[in-house]
Amino acid sequence: MTRTPVNVTVTGAAGQIGYALLFRIASGHLLGADVPVKLRLLEIPQGLKAAEGTAMELDDCAFPLLQGIEITDDPNVGFDGANVALLVGARPRTKGMERGDLLSANGGIFKPQGKAINDNAADDIKVLVVGNPANTNALIAQAAAPDVPAERFTAMTRLDHNRALSQLAKKTGSTVSDIKRLTIWGNHSATQYPDIFHAEIAGKNAAEVVNDEQWLADTFIPTVAKRGAAIIEARGASSAASAANAAIDHVHTWVNGTAAGDWTSMGIPSDGSYGVPEGLISSFPVTCKDGKYEIVQGLDINEFSRARIDASVQELKEERDAVRELGLI
Ligand code: NAD
Ligand code: LMR
Repeated sequence: MTRTPVNVTVTGAAGQIGYALLFRIASGHLLGADVPVKLRLLEIPQGLKAAEGTAMELDDCAFPLLQGIEITDDPNVGFDGANVALLVGARPRTKGMERGDLLSANGGIFKPQGKAINDNAADDIKVLVVGNPANTNALIAQAAAPDVPAERFTAMTRLDHNRALSQLAKKTGSTVSDIKRLTIWGNHSATQYPDIFHAEIAGKNAAEVVNDEQWLADTFIPTVAKRGAAIIEARGASSAASAANAAIDHVHTWVNGTAAGDWTSMGIPSDGSYGVPEGLISSFPVTCKDGKYEIVQGLDINEFSRARIDASVQELKEERDAVRELGLI
């Protein structure tokens, strides 16, 4: 039986993450090796020519699963019939820009895109926001899409999750596949909290295996939380291939499920769990099954974790209040 292609929209398609992402979507890594895709590349007018170049290269790969590419600068066209939307394009912070200016500039992108998703996307639309500030951009888009169930809007903390897996594997001389049940809580920012207290390494409690709270507080947490800045410092540009890889992982897990006994981290609208105010888009431990996710419930949160989760959630509240004041939500 021939499968109906899945419509995948990528914004910021001509950017560096877009370049690392599109070829993997087209080759089947996003949804599965047997799922045909149609790509929509949404750019601003200045990005259209470069997007056309990328589309020529996609053609030249002759991917068997790629059943069409459309390029546009109109969000209503870009999200028409979209089943999956990867919102990558965003306004980066430039020198001298205040946080309010950054939120306002991104509101000008994510509010109309949220509305266009509301008006044009397929009923089963799943949205991943990558463009920073990812959690609050996702909140702006979600607020502009009242007809789409709020839980379909998610923000990416999978890159932080993957970074934490690698750091923990290095420290303990294990492999990343030995590690399960790690969690990123809060915002995709330097306040995020990578939590190993519930994680397991080859079946043993990770915090007990590490047994070094100073390393946790002074090395592990800051290394993971400030990794984005360290990469910008080293590369002169923000992470691109690893960000694209995490976007692939996020959607693949959402659609295809988490492995038995494991969970992942996703920025999702809070239902009030773990004291995170309802509606804030915050990272939680989640399991995925049949295209849906659920927050892992019942975890004991110790004092060390509580203070750090609260600090990151406080930052999310402040971002939400700022965009509310700007009339963006
Ligand atoms: P980039 O500057 O290389 O590309 C961004 C692209 O977006 C550009 O081609 C630009 O023309 C396009 N764009 C801008 N406004 C747009 C709009 N309204 N509609 C459609 N396209 C638009 O940036 P990049 O390196 O690809 O990064 C993109 C975003 O991802 C940045 O905000 C970055 O900070 C963020 N990021 C997030 C994570 C994460 O873990 N959540 C990780 C890395 C990067
Ligand atoms: C990252 O975590 O690599 C990025 O979010 C950094 C950035 O500011 O683009």
